[in-house]
Amino acid sequence: MLRVGELERKYIMRSWAVQGKNKYEEIVGGEGCWFWNKEGKKYLDFSSQLINVNIGHQHPKIIAALKEQAEKLCYISPAYASEPRAKLAEMMTQHTPGDLCKTIFTLGRAESNDNAIKIARIYTGKFKILSRYRSYHGATFGAITLTGLGW
Ligand SMILES: Cc1ncc(COP(=O)(O)O)c(C=O)c1O
Repeated sequence: MLRVGELERKYIMRSWAVQGKNKYEEIVGGEGCWFWNKEGKKYLDFSSQLINVNIGHQHPKIIAALKEQAEKLCYISPAYASEPRAKLAEMMTQHTPGDLCKTIFTLGRAESNDNAIKIARIYTGKFKILSRYRSYHGATFGAITLTGLGW
């Protein structure tokens, strides 16, 4: 049987990687600012993974909230309303300036950039978008075009 890292190399395509070449270390656990591999080797997570585990790994409140919602309803399409999504959107208004009160939920940063481009174009009626040189921020077509590595 193939090890997890080998399974990943064989069956998963990744952006920004030579396909089938990289070795991927299997990580089996984490807590707070630490995560560790199968052999128990611990890593101090200085970057909070992709800057998205900012309150630490396995935070008990996050796990409890995930469990609670998963037992009620794991998924509902955007065509319907759902209490957690509505409440989170309302909470976001406590952190947005002025009278900004609309949130768009995305699956990641690249998609956020794509939506920011669309919103800016709709709002201004203008087409040009300026960005900084080598300001990489995602691997969708829009994000790469706008914020690519400058190749
Ligand atoms: C600086 C930066 N921006 C954006 C992204 C893309 O993020 P996402 O996978 O959430 O689209 C990454 C991913 O590595 C990144 O490092």
